[in-house]
Amino acid sequence: MSRPSRSTFQFDHGRSDADITDPDAYVHGVPYATFERLRRDDPVSWWDEHDGGKGFWAITRYDDLLAVSRQVELFSSAQGITLEEMDPADFHARRNMLEYDPPEHTRYRRLVSKPFARREVYAYEQAIRLLARSVVEEALAGPSTFDFVEQVAKQLPMRMLGRLLGVPDDDGPWLVERGDALLGNFDPEMTDTPLGLTDTDEFKHIPFRSPAALDLYRYAEEQAAQRRVRPTDDVITRLLAPTIDGEQLSELEFKNFFVLLVSAGNDTTRYTMAAGMKALIEHPEQMAELRDSIGKDPSVMDRAVEEILRWATVTMHFRRTATRDVEMHGKQIRAGDKVVIWFVSADYDGEQFPDPTTFDIHRTPNEHVAFGRMSPHLCLGAQLARMELKVLFEELLPRLSDAQLAGPIDRLRSNFIAGMKRVPVTVSLA
Ligand code: HEM
Repeated sequence: MSRPSRSTFQFDHGRSDADITDPDAYVHGVPYATFERLRRDDPVSWWDEHDGGKGFWAITRYDDLLAVSRQVELFSSAQGITLEEMDPADFHARRNMLEYDPPEHTRYRRLVSKPFARREVYAYEQAIRLLARSVVEEALAGPSTFDFVEQVAKQLPMRMLGRLLGVPDDDGPWLVERGDALLGNFDPEMTDTPLGLTDTDEFKHIPFRSPAALDLYRYAEEQAAQRRVRPTDDVITRLLAPTIDGEQLSELEFKNFFVLLVSAGNDTTRYTMAAGMKALIEHPEQMAELRDSIGKDPSVMDRAVEEILRWATVTMHFRRTATRDVEMHGKQIRAGDKVVIWFVSADYDGEQFPDPTTFDIHRTPNEHVAFGRMSPHLCLGAQLARMELKVLFEELLPRLSDAQLAGPIDRLRSNFIAGMKRVPVTVSLA
């Protein structure tokens, strides 16, 4: 960045009286002011649901979120981790690893975790870097104003994950589109069957209550069949192989895990990339400093990635279910009540993060909960996502001398995923 202008950024706190259950409350941005008020005045608040749900407790403070995450026998994941109420038979068929408690979860996690460890993921760094470079080059070769989400952020995570899994590069766009239909399941732009707006009863036994999951099941079956005939050294082959103790994922577990990867590994990272780009444009001095640190001091990028993750906190909540009566902040939580931990609120809790609405690439410590924390469900893809973010900005920033926002941001209609669907940018090349 040649001569960075000073940041004139103003944090948008949003409404202080939003209905946090309503997907429409997020289309103009996260209603941070509502979460600020809840953390201050009513940290364990009761919310009625309007779609037949039985209501839930919202946990909004950082410390309380850790306490709920840690106490897995008291706050169970085994009855679902989204707000949706499911009957047990449907739930059983579509269950993924996020929806088990120890010890079942421990077994599942043992079977899948190795390929996602830091060292294993870094074996793919070069392949992922080349991919990032080619996507960045293609975006920068076109008009100087373009949609950063469409041209860059959307292209990368699924194809990067594809490199690990060993699926053909050409399948990337199809996997992205099906993954979008799954997780954008409330947004009419992302799916033909948005929840709450259309009748989705016939899909209630499949993941995300979305027909896209059936396509992904079929794809996973095909991939598994190919590896059984011709094993390779990719992650799918490794996931299918039995451990030395002879333990193995069942067919349904593998398919559900594949669907989980396509959903968890796709838009979360995409939207974090988009939020990161927007934040850096809005803080030109920090963008310039980050660019200048590349190749000299890798710790600056490492810290910047953590701040981008906190700033974005794309997975806004997950749910637990109380297994017995318990009191929190004077509220009587009953056995069977839904207890929802709001990561997006905890990551802006001023008790944990001084000046939480200030974007600071040097923030230390930065023990954000974007990937969860103190929970056995801590994001399995955290090391991969961190590397993807780092590689993208290492490849992109040295190519730019300036970048500006070039139009309004469009956001996902969702109370679950904080996503930017369009971030128009104008860039000048270095
Ligand atoms: C910036 C991107 C990402 C964010 C913000 C994110 C966020 C999260 C969160 C909040 C959890 C649950 C933590 C808890 O309940 O305590 C989670 C779990 C998980 N994530 Fe991610 N994730 C990201 C990227 C990825 C990627 C790239 C993958 C896969 C390649 C992935 C796979 C998973 C899986 C499989 C779980 C379930 C782990 C378990 O139940 O043991 N995630 N993620």
